[in-house]
Amino acid sequence: MSMLTAQSATPPTSEPQPAFDPRDFRRALGRFATGVTVVTYEHEGAHYGATVNSFTSVSMDPPLVLVSLATTSRAATKLPDRPFAINVLHQDQLDTAMQFAGKPQTGTPVQWNLDHAAPRLAESHAAFVCTPWAIHEAGDHILVLGHVEHYEASETDALVFYQGAFQRLSCVS
Ligand SMILES: Cc1cc2nc3c(=O)[nH]c(=O)nc-3n(C[C@H](O)[C@H](O)[C@H](O)COP(=O)(O)O)c2cc1C
Repeated sequence: MSMLTAQSATPPTSEPQPAFDPRDFRRALGRFATGVTVVTYEHEGAHYGATVNSFTSVSMDPPLVLVSLATTSRAATKLPDRPFAINVLHQDQLDTAMQFAGKPQTGTPVQWNLDHAAPRLAESHAAFVCTPWAIHEAGDHILVLGHVEHYEASETDALVFYQGAFQRLSCVS
């Protein structure tokens, strides 16, 4: 069952806002290691993607996942009312991460897989095809909750983003 709604949770304006230095705040947030995904979707017959590391699992029952999209991104304006896919990148997909972060790579045509409701990358570490479940406004981002309709996972290693740089996994245990 779909529960797509738009909600705003703006804090009271009387609350003092912390005067963070944006670069320092971003640096602190970068201490949290993440994977790297490309969120893909179709709009007016064309296929689009945006590199996103703000991906998290939310719920097992129902199966829900979440991404946070900057309101200034094309994805935030075109994606919310349609199926989308979250493609988790493997460690050899740095070009793909850059391609969908607004830095087109020459010589690496994007291969698409059109076997489900949303276009997804032909190659990935894992993929989650979603229908939109809910949208929440959150400051300069929107939180997009997706209901997972289909998923796949491979045995490759994930691409990692940590301290502002792409990294490879290394085992500590
Ligand atoms: C490693 C990495 C992670 C990113 N994570 C996010 C994110 O979580 N949310 C977001 O809105 N943009 C994120 N971006 C920036 C977008 O990829 C970039 O703005 C892109 O051009 C958006 O594409 P669009 O405007 O076509 O939607 C990230 C970029 C990189 C390189």
